[in-house]
Amino acid sequence: MRALTKITASLLGAGAVAAAGALAYARWVERLRIEVRRMSAEVDAPGLPADGLRILHMSDMHFAGKGQIERWKIEHTLNLLAGEEIDLLLVTGDLIHDDGGLPAALELLARLPQPRLGAYACLGNHDYASYSWLGPARVAWREAEPGQELRDASVRTFEMMTRVFRNDKLYLGQEHNDISVLKRALAKQGVTVLDNSSVRVTDGDTDVWLAGVDDLMEGTPDIDAALADAPPYDSGALRILLFHNPDHMLDERLHGFDLAFGGHVHGGQVLIPLLGALHTQGTHIPRRRTHGWFMYGRTQTYIGRGLGEGVRLRFNCRPEVALLEITPSTLDRQPLAVATSHPRVATNGTGAQPARAG
Ligand SMILES: [Fe+2]
Repeated sequence: MRALTKITASLLGAGAVAAAGALAYARWVERLRIEVRRMSAEVDAPGLPADGLRILHMSDMHFAGKGQIERWKIEHTLNLLAGEEIDLLLVTGDLIHDDGGLPAALELLARLPQPRLGAYACLGNHDYASYSWLGPARVAWREAEPGQELRDASVRTFEMMTRVFRNDKLYLGQEHNDISVLKRALAKQGVTVLDNSSVRVTDGDTDVWLAGVDDLMEGTPDIDAALADAPPYDSGALRILLFHNPDHMLDERLHGFDLAFGGHVHGGQVLIPLLGALHTQGTHIPRRRTHGWFMYGRTQTYIGRGLGEGVRLRFNCRPEVALLEITPSTLDRQPLAVATSHPRVATNGTGAQPARAG
């Protein structure tokens, strides 16, 4: 009996040590193991030059005022990307975790290899608001009837925790960031914010149309406005969409792009073997396939793992930046399945289907 107790105690002790080690690794090691994902894709668009385009996609940097690891990430990222030639820099939101992270975000953007055809961004929920796990309890406490503060705060906290385990959307909004300061700073840095708007970039035989939609949770998305200046399909312009939250792509009006880029899910951050991601931000993205390439209508869509974190943990899900080389398709140009001069009509409405594993 005594031997059994000893074995049980040893197993529990070993389990506790392993759990503590995994937590320490997730908190302080994997978050710094940044990966540059190098990929190539073929796109059929006459506006794509014969020698292709190199796109750097970054998302969800989540720079915070006191985030020392995030500061270290700047140097790691710059080392990894030193000397790269980039045509387009695309940033899909959550540049900051809170207002205090703005200088770090700007520093990274300023020191990156500068893109030949410019830098473009859309906004994410964290660009608008900083969140706190105690936020819902604080709000409930503030709004409670006198004497009911503790009960209401506890109920709200329990409800939020059940949302975590159900993989449901979380609403933790507490403080609003100064979005106008962020927008002005990005403009000064030379980053064009596509905030329900678009821009057409031409240079020699290059013709690229980029559109961006505002964030689903904290912004005011207006897809019609984002598509208002869409060039006709027969212009041959390469059509690129920027969004933050993948749930945007459930709207068929966005299925007529050649390429789309997004983030928000952070790859799930903590990936458990067999189970997959602990949490996917309540989006339609499946737990076991939280990043990589997806197909929405005719739009090849890349959803990145992001460079930063909301909850400061990563396990089995390294932070990343993505370098994508796109080249003209070697296949004959296919006529669109649905004749249209406006991307609001999807060329097929099959919804989200994996294109290839990320
Ligand atoms: Fe994020």
